[in-house]
Amino acid sequence: MIPFNKPSITKKEKEYIMDSLDGKICGDGTYTNKVNDWFKDKMNTNVLLTTSGTSALEMASLLCKLKEGDEVIVPSYTFVSTVNAFALRGAIPVFVDVDPKTMNIDVDKIEEKITDKTKALYIVDYAGVVPDMDKVNDIAKKHNLLVVEDAAQAVGSKYKGKFAGTLADYGCYSFHETKNYVMGEGGAFIANNEKDFLKAEIIREKGTNRSQFIRGMVDKYTWHDIGSSYLPSDILSALLYAQLERFDEIMEKRMDIWNKYNDYFAQYEKDGKVIRPFIPEECEHNAHMFYLIMPTKEERDNLITFLKEKEIIAPFHYIPLHLSPVGKKYGYKEGDLPLTEEYSSRLIRLPLYADMSEEEVNKVCEEVSNFLGK
Ligand SMILES: Cc1ncc(COP(=O)(O)O)c(C=O)c1O
Repeated sequence: MIPFNKPSITKKEKEYIMDSLDGKICGDGTYTNKVNDWFKDKMNTNVLLTTSGTSALEMASLLCKLKEGDEVIVPSYTFVSTVNAFALRGAIPVFVDVDPKTMNIDVDKIEEKITDKTKALYIVDYAGVVPDMDKVNDIAKKHNLLVVEDAAQAVGSKYKGKFAGTLADYGCYSFHETKNYVMGEGGAFIANNEKDFLKAEIIREKGTNRSQFIRGMVDKYTWHDIGSSYLPSDILSALLYAQLERFDEIMEKRMDIWNKYNDYFAQYEKDGKVIRPFIPEECEHNAHMFYLIMPTKEERDNLITFLKEKEIIAPFHYIPLHLSPVGKKYGYKEGDLPLTEEYSSRLIRLPLYADMSEEEVNKVCEEVSNFLGK
């Protein structure tokens, strides 16, 4: 069986986890600090580790001060957490169609959705490819809106040389088991200015200034804001730190597989049998995902079944949120976002994980080609 995804766990991860057990195992221990330093060195940014990408997005929604009836512009083609994060505050999703070249939000369709209720733009870096953030930030500036970058899938990706997650007012990463770098369940929050970073620290620590207390800045801590428990255990930070020490190795292995798929399916694309992912010139992706767009939904569904029979797990994902039961409660219906509906129904993801062997990659290529040749 070739799974769809498998985290790359070595001796190092196990050693660091065992070592963390001898220290302070609640949040903000030795390994959490090592992770913070790693991000400062590598990406020149301060991060706050969180219990999930979802938690980081919820923190962003609290910082945006979203309330009942506010509108948030967001792609429908995304994971539920992007939208739950602000729906929990009573804000309403205003969905925008995709650019089928990247399956990202079509940034040229954002402005027409802005009303006097719009408060924020939640932008997703789908498959680790960043949309045109310069354009997004220009629109936000013009209309006085906040921008949240859901970079859950984009750790290590870049846009115009800058790291994904650092391109908006707030950035959110995921280190879920299915992501490039894992801590089981986990994530990180980034704020682009010091003032918001300090506010985020308080939100993450149940609304208290405990982080300042730990740094010796105050002699007792107390309730300063509405917050929650978004700080992960140092045991999980130990796992993540081992992964980050292997950052380049994991990235190179994934990139190798992504490039093999990309080369292999080039001719099939020329023959009009599939469409491969498109990477805009200003983007460096992180090989998070390799997908194919099939000519029809029927062919996509048949390919999934065909591969399953060959013991290859290749799923599709995201029922567009505007067509989900909750999306319909917001008043959305079929036909509202035609490109999202069309292309999401034709997309299939191929297995991709750092430790995937050459034989496994070859087998996936051959079986897809057997199907396409039929
Ligand atoms: C685009 C996107 N946003 C948010 C999330 C949520 O991240 P997590 O699973 O860490 O809560 C995910 C991951 O599943 C995701 O792919």
